Amino acid sequence: MTKTALITGATSGLGYEFVKLFANDGYNLVLVARNGKKLEEIKQTYTNIDVTVISKDLGVLGAPKEVFEEVEKRGINVDILVNNAGFGLMGKFDDLDIQKQVNMIQLNITALTELTFYFLQKMKLNNSGRVLNVASTAAFQPGPLMAVYYATKAFVLSFSEALVEELAGSAITVTTLCPGPTKTNFGSVANVEGTKMFSSAMASDLVAKKGYEALMSGKRVIITGGFNKAGALGAKFMPRSTAAKIAKYIAGEK
Ligand SMILES: NC(=O)c1ccc[n+]([C@@H]2O[C@H](COP(=O)([O-])OP(=O)(O)OC[C@H]3O[C@@H](n4cnc5c(N)ncnc54)[C@H](OP(=O)(O)O)[C@@H]3O)[C@@H](O)[C@H]2O)c1
Repeated sequence: MTKTALITGATSGLGYEFVKLFANDGYNLVLVARNGKKLEEIKQTYTNIDVTVISKDLGVLGAPKEVFEEVEKRGINVDILVNNAGFGLMGKFDDLDIQKQVNMIQLNITALTELTFYFLQKMKLNNSGRVLNVASTAAFQPGPLMAVYYATKAFVLSFSEALVEELAGSAITVTTLCPGPTKTNFGSVANVEGTKMFSSAMASDLVAKKGYEALMSGKRVIITGGFNKAGALGAKFMPRSTAAKIAKYIAGEK
């Protein structure tokens, strides 16, 4: 039977690259994002697989449950959940709009957690399933000038690795993708383009492919790029105050 993958944030960047990878392997798709027109355009490009689109703002309280209920109503079994939608914001915590930062927590943390909860129940019934949670190299240290964003990604990594242990011995895998700076719309949304951090951003197709391969092999955590791997490793072994100072430096000047 053809398997189905649900991808959040499917309209651009890494999410859209995941769409292409799954479609290429013959998966049916459930695509979630806010831009309904773009979702329809993507749907139209595929005739050989079933593509269901759900236009939803996952930054709104209750939206993840509505997505789950919509999928249930349509009788779709989700074999693979890709929690990819997310955004960041650059600036000092108290200079940034608090509502936008709360929405970020809602999208990057709450929606990811709720979607995992609902779909995991179904995966447990089938004793089969895979989850890919998109974190970031931001997960490995505090991030001055992107304080809330870094903290949301630390949550994603910690939460996902805890689930790996809870699910040990079952046929359900949870993989966390930790990209470093990657060429997508993220840079302009977060206002980080032109920073030292983004001077050597990776290509989105390459990053998504690494994440996809790790997901399919049930790998626990994948950090993309040698430089990013070294940075994450370095952050583990240095005092957090030093790691935070380095993060501030590379996030700093444009
Ligand atoms: N690019 C990087 O440098 C980088 C590095 C590390 C981690 N990441 C992570 O990678 C993931 C994907 O980001 P990206 O780089 O591919 O950025 P992107 O090109 O901006 O894509 C973000 C996607 O999320 C969707 N989205 C945004 N807000 C949403 C909301 N409230 N409800 C539902 N969907 C929403 C967007 O679609 P709509 O606008 O249609 O809703 C879009 O499809 C994020 O979790 C990000 O934190 C990115």
